[in-house]
Order: sequence, then structure tokens, then C-alpha cells
Amino acid sequence: MQQDVNLLQIPGPTPIPPSVERAISQPMVGHRGPDMTKLVQRIKPRLKKVFGTEEDILFIAGSGTAGLEAAAVNVATKGDEVLVLVSGSFGERFAQICESLELTTHRLEFEWGEAIELPQVEEFLQNNKNIKAVFMTQSETSTGIQNPIAEVSEIVHENSDALVVVDGVSCVGGVVTEMDKWGVDVFVTGSQKAMMLPPGLTFIGVSKRAWDAIDANESRRFYFDLRKYRDNLAKDTTPFTPAVSLLFGLEQALTLLEDEGLDNVYERHLLMMKMTREAMRTLGLPLLTSDEHAAPTVTAVKPDNFSADELRSILRKNFNLSLAGGQQQLSGKIFRIGHMGYCSPADVLQIISLIEIGLRELGVEITLGQGVQAAQEVYLNRKK
Ligand SMILES: Cc1ncc(COP(=O)(O)O)c(C=O)c1O
Repeated sequence: MQQDVNLLQIPGPTPIPPSVERAISQPMVGHRGPDMTKLVQRIKPRLKKVFGTEEDILFIAGSGTAGLEAAAVNVATKGDEVLVLVSGSFGERFAQICESLELTTHRLEFEWGEAIELPQVEEFLQNNKNIKAVFMTQSETSTGIQNPIAEVSEIVHENSDALVVVDGVSCVGGVVTEMDKWGVDVFVTGSQKAMMLPPGLTFIGVSKRAWDAIDANESRRFYFDLRKYRDNLAKDTTPFTPAVSLLFGLEQALTLLEDEGLDNVYERHLLMMKMTREAMRTLGLPLLTSDEHAAPTVTAVKPDNFSADELRSILRKNFNLSLAGGQQQLSGKIFRIGHMGYCSPADVLQIISLIEIGLRELGVEITLGQGVQAAQEVYLNRKK
């Protein structure tokens, strides 16, 4: 196989745009000096737009999970009752984080591949009046579901005083995100997905209501104490050494998002989702999720006449194309195509055509080109 070809189509980490790579490789600067202050000043207002908020967005050196733990340890303390809406492995992770912090953790479980159901959330909150925070996942990367965050948030606010805490790790930057309009109190994402950066940064938006709770919260925390990040950010700095190079990259990633226009970025993601789904359908491959709740950033396919893992291994061996497998209960049962961040309809056409070859190599009877053609039609009809 040709060397140095790496077709990375997993739902994060995602490929890095060349201009972002160049920005990241700038010479190091002192993290307490004027270069850093100016960089933070430039980044601050631009990040807010990606989250759809007037609030400052905090950034912490750490992966997405660091952001999730920071959210949980700041909004609640040992013994507090919280509700976690679990529709896949990342909802499950939120629940485990809450349990590890000794929060009294209630779970509402939804079938993997289905979205959060509003009536169940409403009923739970009407019967449980002491819930301090409700945790949920926007794009459940393990299944390719996009949960209806605005609607769930409305139900939480109508039925309780609980804070709404959202894991937006695999969608912020690629999917419409309206933290303020949706009434989300804590919104978390990571750098390595739709934000087009390497792993290592987590971003957290916090509402005024949430700050009141965080200020009053007596839980023990040090590195993850969000008050430190807020107070330092007000002075255009960070409490600890930031991931300087990733912040160089972030500035350029924000430029790319702005130059394309956030609305166009979101449309591109929807288009890639539709192309992928239509291609899979045309090839006769069952999709795990409904059109209504499909995530614009990742598509899960659940084959019924071949092994998902064998297809992945053929594609890796022949083309160095990486697709993701299933997690936990979906292990071996699905494959997942990431289409987010630095990814275009042209990439999607390439992946589909390689998948077609992989299917034929596996002995699956398909007509070559059918999936590609279906995706091409979706592309050509995009404006109609
Ligand atoms: C929805 C979601 N939440 C949380 C995470 C965890 O992020 P990290 O692996 O950066 O800790 C991921 C990573 O895949 C994710 O997709």
C-alpha cells in the first residue's frame, strides 16, 4: 500500500486542515506574556459564536471527558440528585462520572439507536423534585443519534429548577448550536471533532444561572474548578499553562469556520449526512438511526448480511481507510462513518466508493457505483 496515505473517517479525532497544522507549528510563546494575552483576546469573542452564546467560553487542557467531569464536579456535590439521559456509550460515561463523584445518579435509559424521549423526561421530573442537574449528550457518537436538546431543555426548565448540562463533544462546530436560545446551562465540547483540531482541549460554556450554582457549590475540585478559569479569562489569561499550540490552531480553525460561514458549515454537514445515508440505503445497508434523529456528523450502519468489522479491516488493509466500529453492546454489530470537521462532499464520495469495493471483496452482492450515484444525486439536488 502507498505510504503516508491516511483516510481518517472515524468520528474523531478528525483530519486537521493544513492551515491549522501550520498555525499549530508556530514557535512557542510564553504563556504569561503579551502574545498569549492578545491571542486569548482574539479567540474569546469568536468562540462564543460557535456556541451561540453571549457568555465567555472557558478552555481547559484535557480531552472531552475532562470537560464532562469539570461540568459535573462544578454543578453538583456529593449526595446531590442528578438525572442522566443515557442513549449510548457517552451518556453512559456521563452517568459513570456522576457516580464517581458520589452524586445520587438517576438514569433514564433509551434504546441505543433511538433518541431521548421527551414524555419520559417530563414524567421523571414531575415525580422527582430534587434534581439539581440533568445531563445529556447532543450527538451520541456511539449510535449516530442527534438528541433534541432544545426540546429536552425546555421540558427540564418547565418542570424543574435543574441545570441543563450538555455534552456537545461530537457536534459543536459542525451542527447548529444555540446555547442561550436553548437554555443550556453548561455546554461542553472537545477539540478533536468538528472543531478541526488535534485532541487535547475541552471548551465549556456556562450560563449565568449555572455560575450561581457553581459559586455556591462546595464540592472539592482544583484543576477543574471552573471559577478559576472564569476569573482568569476575564483578565485574558488561564489559571494553568494552556495548550498554547492548540490555541494557535484554534485561532486558524475559527478563521476557517468564519470564512466558510457557520450556516454554510452546518449545511455542509447536513449534506454529507444525507449523501452518506442515501448511499447506504441504496446499497441495501440498514441504518441504525431514523432520518428524523440522525446526527449530521456521524452515521452508523448495521449490516445484516456481513461482518461490520471484516469490512472495516478490508478497508484499512487496502486503502488505509479508518472507519469506527461499535462500542459496548454494539461492538461488532455496526460500523460508523465520521463526516465532520475537515471533511467535504468529495471525501464522502470517496469513502462510499471504497466501501463499495470493500463490500464486493467481502462477497456482498451490490452493483458498483450505485451508492456513489445516489450520493451524487443528493449533492446535485442540494439546492432544490
Ligand atoms: C459525545 C462524546 N462525548 C465524550 C467523548 C469523550 O471525549 P474524549 O475521548 O476526548 O475524552 C466523545 C469522544 O468520542 C464523544 O464523542
